[in-house]
Amino acid sequence: MADEKAKLLIKGKTIDLDVLSGTLGPDVVDVSALFKEGCFTYDSGFNSTAACESKITFIDGEKGILLHRGYPIEQLASKSTFLEVCYLLLNGELPNKQQEEQFRRTITHHTMVHEQIHYFFNGFRRDAHPMAIMVGVVGALSAFYHDTLDIKNPEHRTISALRLIAKMPTIAAMCYKYTIGQPFMQPLNRLSYAENFLHMMFDTPCAESHINPVLARALDKILHADHEQNASTSTVRLAGSTGANPFACISAGIGALWGPAHGGANEAALSMLHEIGNVSQVGKYIARAKDPNDNFRLMGFGHRVYKNYDPRAKVMRETCHEVLEAVGAKNDPLFKLAMELERIALEDDYFVEKKLYPNVDFYSGITLSAIGIPANMFTVIFALARTVGWAAQWNEMISNPYRLGRPRQLYTGPKKRDYIGITDRS
Ligand SMILES: CC(C)(COP(=O)(O)OP(=O)(O)OC[C@H]1O[C@@H](n2cnc3c(N)ncnc32)[C@H](O)[C@@H]1OP(=O)(O)O)[C@@H](O)C(=O)NCCC(=O)NCCS
Repeated sequence: MADEKAKLLIKGKTIDLDVLSGTLGPDVVDVSALFKEGCFTYDSGFNSTAACESKITFIDGEKGILLHRGYPIEQLASKSTFLEVCYLLLNGELPNKQQEEQFRRTITHHTMVHEQIHYFFNGFRRDAHPMAIMVGVVGALSAFYHDTLDIKNPEHRTISALRLIAKMPTIAAMCYKYTIGQPFMQPLNRLSYAENFLHMMFDTPCAESHINPVLARALDKILHADHEQNASTSTVRLAGSTGANPFACISAGIGALWGPAHGGANEAALSMLHEIGNVSQVGKYIARAKDPNDNFRLMGFGHRVYKNYDPRAKVMRETCHEVLEAVGAKNDPLFKLAMELERIALEDDYFVEKKLYPNVDFYSGITLSAIGIPANMFTVIFALARTVGWAAQWNEMISNPYRLGRPRQLYTGPKKRDYIGITDRS
């Protein structure tokens, strides 16, 4: 892998560094032994730093390409179910018919949560944010699966991943039901993964609603299954590198996902639409987004990696329109406003020059809202979908040689100084 060398000239000394090539993407300069030479590299925000080797997902942000195990997201979105993509991410290959049936059966039979999990919910205020509940409850799963779980055992890792994928929709729906004061709904084995989620979200013991297949398909398409080494996935890997319980690691990932610069963007995008209010205000808000002295940003626009149209946004845009059609919301003022904002931002020089395209969260927020899911649940659903990616990345790390993650720093605090007693301080 290391055919080339890079040379670093520092303090009069030349250091040879290996240049490693992957199957796709930029080469990387291996700086791991640099500390022995008495220096570190500095890359705040990890713009240029690869922290691991991975075979799961590839992104080319300049070209707008996203591949899972080599398959383009557009093909997976139009041809696969969510569970097939889960199988692919976890196992490296798409399942054949028999493997798919077996996988689906296994997931279906792990959807219920332990009865005692229900008690955790009572500790939360009824107006708690569902993400706050989810961080806590998923972390609490580690209490149920700890002593018997050996992370060095591949079978134990697989069963942990399956449990997580299976139970996340149940927990997500419970987070919602708790905050609206309705009884928790048990999963039904006859329903598909997405249908089951809609059932647990919207049915009550008194009434079972008809599940609209367009909405179930839209949820099945939520395209957040994995996105290589983003903030939450890196958090899961970092936590995992300590040997921590996988449920605790995923809970750490959920915490990282919550922020508005990451998974919270879909909720922030919808709040922004409410703040803008109506189409006549769009110009004012576009001007604010462009003003360097104003902190306001168009939420759901821009991406750290994609400097081209996010390929997931293209698919989600189509799904969004299908859902709006299916629920008869094409003329809803909020959705009209969203479409107008999209139109202006795509034409405006500021957004064009800075390559700030609408991202997947812009469309997923509108889609989820049209399905009837409240905005504070959007990031919970993102977490539900991303769980497989976190589990696959965690499993990949533990299955291969890895070291405890421990970033360095550029220290800019005071130099060593002597302690001054309180009476002698000025
Ligand atoms: C995602 C995001 C954090 C990426 O940030 P980044 O790669 O660090 O890029 P920067 O924040 O340095 O932005 C680059 C430039 O574009 C501008 N910019 C970026 N996103 C913008 C937005 N949504 N609205 C207005 N201006 C934006 C920045 O002000 C900056 O301008 P400058 O060069 O004049 O200083 C950023 O685009 C953002 O905050 N978007 C809104 C939140 C969102 O939708 N997040 C979901 C990501 S999936």
